[in-house]
Amino acid sequence: MDFVGARSAVLAVLRGVSAGDRSRLLHWMRTTNDFDEFMLSNNDVVLRSIAEDLRNCLPIEAMLNSEHLAIKKILEQPEPTVHVDAFLYDDDDIIDSLCEKGKMSRNYCVVCGSHKTAPLEFISHSFSLMELKFLYQYALPDLTGKILVDVGSRLGAVLFGVLHSDICTQASLLQNADVVVMNNVFEYFLDRLEQARAWEFISHNMRKKGSLLVTVPSLEESISNLQTDILLSQWVEEMKLDYDVYMEKDIDREALEQIHLYKIL
Ligand SMILES: C[S@@+](CC[C@H](N)C(=O)[O-])C[C@H]1O[C@@H](n2cnc3c(N)ncnc32)[C@H](O)[C@@H]1O
Repeated sequence: MDFVGARSAVLAVLRGVSAGDRSRLLHWMRTTNDFDEFMLSNNDVVLRSIAEDLRNCLPIEAMLNSEHLAIKKILEQPEPTVHVDAFLYDDDDIIDSLCEKGKMSRNYCVVCGSHKTAPLEFISHSFSLMELKFLYQYALPDLTGKILVDVGSRLGAVLFGVLHSDICTQASLLQNADVVVMNNVFEYFLDRLEQARAWEFISHNMRKKGSLLVTVPSLEESISNLQTDILLSQWVEEMKLDYDVYMEKDIDREALEQIHLYKIL
């Protein structure tokens, strides 16, 4: 059935519904999640099935014991915080079902033994599906033939490829890259001296004019508390991103606003 036929059929159904039930039906059509499956593209389905495969072979906290500093920094957060990987656990229903089974919790006990609870902070070391789609469908241009580097690929949400090494040993990779993606790479994983050194290395080697750098959070925020001699105004120009591209009501706009795009000068 084509669009015109389908629209007529929907209108015919609405006309056929008893007057008393029509407003109920319209309310359901405006608010239901039952249409979600029709909005999913094939790409969404592929991404979700990759996430499902990974969920099945990783521990629920999706962190390795070797990630000492990241684990320590989560424990040091002012509010009790847990790592819930946004790529793996992108769907609130999955989190709810794990909470019901007692495998995950959204709350912590304020006074041990009492029924008083408060919401836990969730932190993610991966981009969510929404952030990935924003990145690839809106923020970045066509990447055909381009070299894209995801610094710290972790589960491979941004880029599923394998080069296991410290970015500070990869000068030529950075020099040749057309696009470099850096999603909160250093803050949780390196101490401040190492972070400063790593940013200096990136800024010295990512010099290809016109190449693009995506960062979360902004470069200003990432280096503001570090001692570096990076002069942002001489290195990059920020490109404005339109964060209003999604119409859905449950979009985490705050998360999207953390994504920044720069062009190398
Ligand atoms: C927040 S995760 C980002 C994961 C992935 N890019 C994403 O957006 O879903 C940051 C990753 O950067 C890695 N990382 C930290 N310092 C690094 C370095 N010097 N060289 C390469 N990777 C590094 C961390 O181990 C971690 O896996």
